[in-house]
Amino acid sequence: MNNFLKISDIDNLKSTIKEAIDLKDNPRKFKKLGENKTIVLLFFNASLRTRLSTQKAAINLGMDVVVMNFTNEGWQLEFEDGIVMNKNKSEHVKEAAKVISQYCDIVAIRAFASLTDKEKDEAEVVLNNFKKYANIPVVNMESATGHPLQALADAITIEEFKSTKKPKVVLSWAPHPKALPHAVANSFVEMMQLQDVNFVITHPKGYELNPKITKNSAIEYNQEKAFENADFVYVKNWSSYKNYGKVLNTDSKWMITADKMKLTNKGKFMHCLPVRRNVIVTDEVMDSENSIVIEQANNRTYAAQIVLKKILEQND
Ligand code: CP
Repeated sequence: MNNFLKISDIDNLKSTIKEAIDLKDNPRKFKKLGENKTIVLLFFNASLRTRLSTQKAAINLGMDVVVMNFTNEGWQLEFEDGIVMNKNKSEHVKEAAKVISQYCDIVAIRAFASLTDKEKDEAEVVLNNFKKYANIPVVNMESATGHPLQALADAITIEEFKSTKKPKVVLSWAPHPKALPHAVANSFVEMMQLQDVNFVITHPKGYELNPKITKNSAIEYNQEKAFENADFVYVKNWSSYKNYGKVLNTDSKWMITADKMKLTNKGKFMHCLPVRRNVIVTDEVMDSENSIVIEQANNRTYAAQIVLKKILEQND
């Protein structure tokens, strides 16, 4: 693997999921692989899981790790070509990416959607400019349109917890007071389309995701109907795609409750975290034995580790 920007950068998903699960038996087994190699994690947005799990994954592989928060450290970067830089941006990505490439062997980047400019967000300006100007592999730690490391952890979790060959997996929208990006939902949809699952998406009208991503995936506007016999309920808020970045509905009727979970086949509750309790989901569901959000978050380490391992092996 040269770069990890999207799920399709993984050659063999099935064997990659198995290899990631196998890493759990001895996470430090490949600690020689990353010796004398450095990864830099660049954050243009906040994080808990992505930062710590990617750092932990790199440490497990014997790498040195450098972290930089562009939110409060570093110069504001310019990404536009040919621009007169006489405003607030101090450094162009052309120099920044090349300089970083001299210090490190892999660069991992988190840069969320603006949710104000669909065209720019879909162009993945930050990620693609780093890919263009860095001379080292680039890893997506959640970009404007995708969060493939999260989706890989989700697939690992479903593989570990499934009790039938072809489980029913429901992706449900839930309310949130702020406009949130589509990245997690997009990547989860793309991942489920590649798994042997019966997949259904449920959300209020107006919250349809990008149809180029959802393609032929089933959409059920009645949340309770969608939940019937579900083995996994994956919950996430996202803002409107059509009415780009807008919050159309904060109706608490869409919150995940114990009564709704009773409609499922003792379904496992999943969420990428962070989650707003009693807005997205009730305490009762979060604290129930069918909530697997902590195990899901643990799998972020092994998702990142298998990706970094494949990049290190390719560039050895
Ligand atoms: N799920 C996830 O990416 O968590 P963080 O935003 O805390 O990294």
